[in-house]
Formats: sequence, structure tokens, C-alpha cells
Amino acid sequence: SYVNTREILDKASKEYYGVAAFNINNLEFLQAILAGAAEKKSPAIIETSEGAIKYAGMGDYFKGARIFVNMVKEFANDLDIPVALHLDHGKDFNIIMACIKAGYSSVMIDASHYDFEDNLRITKDVARIAHAAGVSVEAELGQLAGIEDNVEAAENVLVNVDQAEKFCAESEIDFFAPAIGTSHGAFKFKGEAKLDYDRLKKVKEITGKPLVLHGASSVVQEYVKIAEEHGADFGGSKGVPSDVLKETVKFGINKVNTDTDLRIAYIAGLREYLDNDSKQFDPRKYYKVAMDYTKQVVMDRIDILGSAGKI
Ligand code: G3H
Ligand code: 13P
Ligand code: ZN
Repeated sequence: SYVNTREILDKASKEYYGVAAFNINNLEFLQAILAGAAEKKSPAIIETSEGAIKYAGMGDYFKGARIFVNMVKEFANDLDIPVALHLDHGKDFNIIMACIKAGYSSVMIDASHYDFEDNLRITKDVARIAHAAGVSVEAELGQLAGIEDNVEAAENVLVNVDQAEKFCAESEIDFFAPAIGTSHGAFKFKGEAKLDYDRLKKVKEITGKPLVLHGASSVVQEYVKIAEEHGADFGGSKGVPSDVLKETVKFGINKVNTDTDLRIAYIAGLREYLDNDSKQFDPRKYYKVAMDYTKQVVMDRIDILGSAGKI
């Protein structure tokens, strides 16, 4: 069934498990994700970036938002797992409003690039409007950047615990994304993956909110290898290892944003298939392995985060 994201994350926060939020741009990723989640009897959060919404609507973000809501609801209505649709990194007020109007389960207002007071003011405004429409809200503090061995640099980009307390108390958001050392994409760490667990624990303690980890892909080397055997070049890519993810969940992370891992699994399957069958030109055939690999990554993540059976 189609639910408010809050329903999924309040339960996860109480019981200390993580739920992956999977980014999509098209039908095939949605199908692969929901097939994996249904098989694992896991709640599923589908998310779309502003770019994904413009892509789907061919530039018309009202249309793009409606397309995703209709697509997700159409599948969710027939499934016995809770499914939510979330706007990821909403920065454009008009796109956020389009998503609320179209029926998204939740929106992220990402004003993390503004100073603290502006971020709080903008976030408050969006939370008031979204809540009036029954839509839950995520917001972020700090910048997504890997931690270097430099305390001063970390203080500049990672979430400030006192600010997190004030932000969560005053903004009335439903879930909170603290920057603790991850970054987006396939190149997160040069050396060892390093996250600020102490900061995370304090933020959980002091805010009591369901917490969100952005840039949480593991960059699964098995699929990097398959992609590279078939012509890709992701040299030096490195994500958040699954044991590190498990630690973050233990310390209070509940929504685990995942885009890169799906993209890599998909391209690995697509490249492998096309390499092995030069005569094929039916998309339903050449997407097959890509979707199987994507579904497998989804199921592995559900196991790592502990959301299987939590419906
Ligand atoms: O946080 C960013 C997501 O991975 C999606 O990014 O759709 O703008 O490429 P994009
Ligand atoms: P990855 O690039 O690690 O998949 O992060 C996705 C994300 O944070 C989307 O908001
Ligand atoms: Zn993100």
C-alpha cells in the first residue's frame, strides 16, 4: 500500500533498523526495487531527485511529479508492503510544491547550503505547508563531504550537534539528515571509509528523530568488476562498506539513501548482456540482466539494514 514516509521511519527509529531509500529515474528501476522489497517483505521508500522529475516530465516538473506518483501508486496498491514516494534534495520551492500537489508521501527541503538561520527559516516554511497537506518532511544540516584527518575541516562541514538540537526542535521536521562524513557518487573515500559515529550518537540522543544517511551507497565491487570487464571505467571508486552501514544503523540511522549502487548494478548487467548478444535490440530482453542485478542489490541492502519482514 501507498503510505506516508513517516509511518515507515517512525517504526524504524523506534526499533533501530534502517530502510533504504532508492532513487529512480524510470519504470525499470522502480520495477526492480519493488520486486526486491516485496520478496523480502520490506517497506520500500522510492525517491526522485529534481533532475529525475524534470527528466520524466520532459522539462515539465508538474507532469514529472504526477508520472512518478501514478506509477508508484499503481504498483503499491497491489503490494502488501508499505511503499512511500519521496522528493530527494528539494531545492526549488516550485518543484517542492509540485510534489506536494501531485501526492508525494514526503519531501526533502535541502537548504543546507544556506547559513543556519536561513536554512531553519526556509525549512520551517516548507514544513508548515507540507504538513497541512499530510506530507512529511526531511531536512539537512551540514555539508556532504568526506572527513579528512583534520578536526577543523570536519567542524566546518559536519553537522553541529547544538545546531541540530535547535533545528529539530524549532523546524517541526519529521526526519533529519545530519552530515557525518559521507558524500554522493562513486568516489566517497580515498583511504579508509571514516564516519563520525560520536557525532551521530549525540544527534540521535538529542533530537530523537528518525535520521537519514545521504551518500550511503557501498559501491559494491562485485558489480564494479562486471561493469569494468565489459568496458566501464570506474577506477578507484569506493563507497560505505556494509559493516560501516550497520554501525550507523546501530547508532540511529533509519533512512539510507541509495542511488549509485543501483546505477552501477544496472550498467553492469546492461553492458554484460550487450557484450554477449550483439543481435539483440528488444529493450525488454536487454534490460533483463540489468534489472536482475538491480533487484539483487536491493535485496542485499535490505538484509544489511535489517528491514526484511518489518511490515
Ligand atoms: O543525491 C543525488 C541523487 O543521487 C540523484 O542525483 O538525479 O541529480 O543525478 P541526480
Ligand atoms: P549515493 O550516491 O551514495 O547513492 O547517495 C544517494 C543520495 O544520497 C541521494 O540523496
Ligand atoms: Zn543525498
